[in-house]
Amino acid sequence: MSKKVYIETQGCQMNEYDSSRMADLLGESHGMVRTDNPEEADVLLMNTCSIREKAQEKVFSELGRWRKLKEKRPEVVIGVGGCVASQEGELIRKRASYVDMVFGPQTLHRLPKMLDEKQNNKISIVDISFPEIEKFDFLPEPKVEGFKAYVSIMEGCSKYCSFCVVPYTRGEEVSRPFDDVIAEIVHLASQGVREVTLLGQNVNGYRGHYHDGEVCTFAELLKHIADIDGIGRIRFTTSHPLEFNDDLIEAYTLLPKLVSHVHLPVQSGSDTILAAMKRNHTAEDYLQRIRKLKIARPDIHLSSDFIIGFPNETDQDFVDTMNLIAEVDYDHSYSFIYSKRPGTPASELPDNTSEEDKKERLALLKARIKQNTERKTRAMLGTTQRVLVEKVSDRDQDYMVGSAENTRQVLLPRNDALIGKFADVVIDQIMSINTVRGHEIVWME
Ligand code: SAH
Ligand code: F3S
Repeated sequence: MSKKVYIETQGCQMNEYDSSRMADLLGESHGMVRTDNPEEADVLLMNTCSIREKAQEKVFSELGRWRKLKEKRPEVVIGVGGCVASQEGELIRKRASYVDMVFGPQTLHRLPKMLDEKQNNKISIVDISFPEIEKFDFLPEPKVEGFKAYVSIMEGCSKYCSFCVVPYTRGEEVSRPFDDVIAEIVHLASQGVREVTLLGQNVNGYRGHYHDGEVCTFAELLKHIADIDGIGRIRFTTSHPLEFNDDLIEAYTLLPKLVSHVHLPVQSGSDTILAAMKRNHTAEDYLQRIRKLKIARPDIHLSSDFIIGFPNETDQDFVDTMNLIAEVDYDHSYSFIYSKRPGTPASELPDNTSEEDKKERLALLKARIKQNTERKTRAMLGTTQRVLVEKVSDRDQDYMVGSAENTRQVLLPRNDALIGKFADVVIDQIMSINTVRGHEIVWME
């Protein structure tokens, strides 16, 4: 019987991607299959996140549960990967000696070897080095289910925002070669994938090499991906405002396959805070790009990350953030209270804003943006939306579910021939803040 691997993923989409690659890898090397029941797993892997303190705390409480499983079945192998592993290294085994393997985001491709070494020599392994982009050279072709897939196009981050651990845990920016990215997407399209999401900490900082050694920019990469047969929709995340240049904005006029949604994190609307965060741009720089983008693609939906309560954030700084939100008119956001991360420059800054003020500001910001989400969903009534139809609804077998470009879920009357296809749907009912219903008028091969 095949051995089983259980993978718990914490944190971002990069980690989701890495986890599925770990499963592909162990499937290929050890014939392992992924299970969603840790009780029956031979190998337990935790892909961790250290972006905020809360995420990091979860690691050891969860490991405590896995320890009990190992007490019952001592042959179980436990591995910890991801950003906490990268940051803590050996310390993980000091706090949890029953952990057998510790690996970073850049060494997950060595998992099969680590596992063999563990099993043959009974030694525990810690490997959290940054061997450039070697990782991708050792990963098997990705397996996919469904019509959407993630494609990692670059790793790491060299921006060093003062609050953020990513450059330390994932290393500096490295782009995947152009040919590799294209080959992976062609392969995905041949398996029926219709929508790709390009992944990286700063995808618009992409500087991959063509096989002749010339540099390919992100805007150029998008054009080549748009030429791939079968791919009908392109998303990407995350991009940084600094490199959201005119070429990229122009891509929104040239490439209809680029969705009308951009996630462009601004973090704060206050110039004082942006400078202290080392974001290297002002609120006005950001707004200028947004204005241009809205001209290039008038129906663009925008989203952002916000950090509330950065050290010394004043009421006025917060008002500046709310004013920026009002001008951009965001569709949604991912907003959190600042969390002090060891080793980052911001962790040295005195913080004299009260917890109460931070919570109140966060609640105000979230309420404001939620109103936008609701308004924009309601505005879909009577419009025609291009929908990627994915499956029959679990809740109601008479309906199919798909997704609109603006990430809303769309229900439409059941027609199995539409699965995996794009359809133009007229919206005639608003079901909830994120779900609408309609009927298709045209569908495409
Ligand atoms: N590459 C992205 C961000 C990646 S981290 C960018 O260009 O901004 C994802 C989000 O986590 C960040 O946008 C930020 O809002 C949040 N984040 C990072 N460090 C944080 C911290 N110390 N406290 C709170 N939120 C943080
Ligand atoms: Fe973090 Fe800033 Fe990079 S938020 S991931 S250091 S762009």
